[in-house]
Amino acid sequence: MSQPDSFYVTTPIYYVNAEPHIGNAYTTVAADVLNRYHKLLGNQSYFLTGTDEHGSKVAESAERAGLSPQELCDKNSEVFKNSWKKLNIEYDKFIRTTDPEHEEIVRNFIQVLHDKKYIYQGEYKGLYCTGCEKFITERELTEDGKCPVHLTKPQEVREKNYFFKLSEFLGPLRQKIESGELEIVPQNRRNEVLGLFKQNLEDFSLSRERVKWGVSLPFDESQVTYVWIDALINYISAPKYPDGPDFDRLWNKSTVIHLMAKDILKFHCIYWPAMLMAADVKLPDKIVIHGYLNLDSQKISKSLGNIIKPDDMIGWFGVDASRFLVLNMCAFGSDGDIRIEDFYTKYNADLANNYGNLVSRTLKMIDRNLNGILPQPKGGEMPDIIKEGYETVKRVREKLVDVQIKMATDEVIAYLSKLNAYFDENKPWALAKEGKTDELGEVLYNTSYGIALSSALLSPYLTEKAVTVLESLFGKKVPSEVVLQELGNALGFTDKIEPPKKNLFPRLSMPKDLAPKAEEPLADNIIGIEDFAKVQLQVAEVKEAEKVPKADKLLKLQLEIGQDKRQIVAGIAEFYEPDALVGKKIIVVTNLKPVKLRGIESNGMLLAAKKKKKLSLLTVDSDIPTGAKIS
Ligand code: MSP
Repeated sequence: MSQPDSFYVTTPIYYVNAEPHIGNAYTTVAADVLNRYHKLLGNQSYFLTGTDEHGSKVAESAERAGLSPQELCDKNSEVFKNSWKKLNIEYDKFIRTTDPEHEEIVRNFIQVLHDKKYIYQGEYKGLYCTGCEKFITERELTEDGKCPVHLTKPQEVREKNYFFKLSEFLGPLRQKIESGELEIVPQNRRNEVLGLFKQNLEDFSLSRERVKWGVSLPFDESQVTYVWIDALINYISAPKYPDGPDFDRLWNKSTVIHLMAKDILKFHCIYWPAMLMAADVKLPDKIVIHGYLNLDSQKISKSLGNIIKPDDMIGWFGVDASRFLVLNMCAFGSDGDIRIEDFYTKYNADLANNYGNLVSRTLKMIDRNLNGILPQPKGGEMPDIIKEGYETVKRVREKLVDVQIKMATDEVIAYLSKLNAYFDENKPWALAKEGKTDELGEVLYNTSYGIALSSALLSPYLTEKAVTVLESLFGKKVPSEVVLQELGNALGFTDKIEPPKKNLFPRLSMPKDLAPKAEEPLADNIIGIEDFAKVQLQVAEVKEAEKVPKADKLLKLQLEIGQDKRQIVAGIAEFYEPDALVGKKIIVVTNLKPVKLRGIESNGMLLAAKKKKKLSLLTVDSDIPTGAKIS
């Protein structure tokens, strides 16, 4: 297969309502590594990432934080940028959906669909999960009627919307996926997408009437563009659809690769290509769908509260190793169930032992026994261990065509194992002792050649340390791509090779306080975060309070919880006078089944601390609107 020479690599744009975690970092590092690999292998590549800033989810977060939506977006998009900077992510553009240029292009694109009569007005009725920012079907709900991802009840929504005529494109789109014109990898995800065509794929609504924080429709200012549609358009607004100076080069003439996890496959593999077809725009070339990084068997996600932040990883392992580890724990495409302990195991095996230790042993021997000078090879046939290195480069290249990033890395790690075996079998320390300088020089030259190739191939991950190793070998900064261009030739190492000043990847053991939960003795009453997440706790204000007749212990309270009004009955009459409660902000469980106490309906339960004969209501320590959720 001939390689195109220009790539355009994208990540999803992330919601700004929470900080980045290693789940988002997974996709972003993958895109960064892929982008760097393309360049390393002699191609051009452009890398786009950014933040998704409109929609009710962001507006609600802003309200909770006491900020305007724009202020929240400005603040949090910086948090993403900083995290990516710390992880040495080298994007070409960071797009924000509140960029005025993006907003303008969204309006232009929607206008094109409207002009072509692919948009019509209708009424939308459905269950909407604000966490997912999408409508969910009855079938997708959990047994108790909740969103399976966020474990919250979706809202019932009925409103006037504009719809996109998806139905007109389903046949041709399916054909493009089946023929591979739109390539979806891996195969199992492609099958999953093709399976969606057998279900009832309906025209979808691309506007919202009730949401205010968004891009207004060009032909009806009373509606905003559905946040998902607004977000998808980022991929073409970044190169400035339809006729910006980069649009042709980046979108039409490059291999466009969208990376993401399986959660957003339908939007990217069905809605997005259908809209592009409607607007007569070229489709992306490849949609690459990876699995979830799960921690202790749960998806890492802000809603479930089990996140590891990029900063945590960097603190444990440093930047290079974090990039390497986040991406290489599981096959790209499958879910990866990890424990923090597994990071340490992989770090020690691949980076400390296989790579770092070999580099250190080899360079120290060159310094001590050969005065830092490697002899030039005698010529003739390349030794097998170097030929194996060339084969590794070839295999890495092949794996990358299918965006099998982890498999590509495994090739390099396997080569490093062979290199270690070569080193050990040839016993350079014995050759040194026996004064066999020529043979020693040859073994150390060959090992250094292998180290140079491996460092170049690992440089998309090890953006700092691989560069240091190459610098030690060549005596100056040599870009990794230059090393790979030398394939088949002798390498001109410096005549003063010095071992790295510091241990590249010192062995690490996992700190005790990070010990994985599963290994701690489990008390019977320990619950998982998923159990806690089932309890919905909210701030409520007591508006009225009165004693329940003929019940010494009960008070009847009328509460305000956001837009909601509720009545609860609580057993606190011995501790609080009704009047003293009015105006207090308290914490209430709001998803309890209603019960009747003394014939009076109680729709929730307040929280209080109790010891012996004392009781104190839980409250909030600063002014926060009622309805605020507690997590
Ligand atoms: N804003 C939308 C995307 C719009 S793109 C036009 C969105 N944002 S998100 O912040 O929820 O990011 C979802 C993406 O983050 C996933 O598709 C995946 O790329 C990444 N991940 C989030 N959690 C992850 C894991 N636990 N594991 C792997 N990737 C994860 O959806």
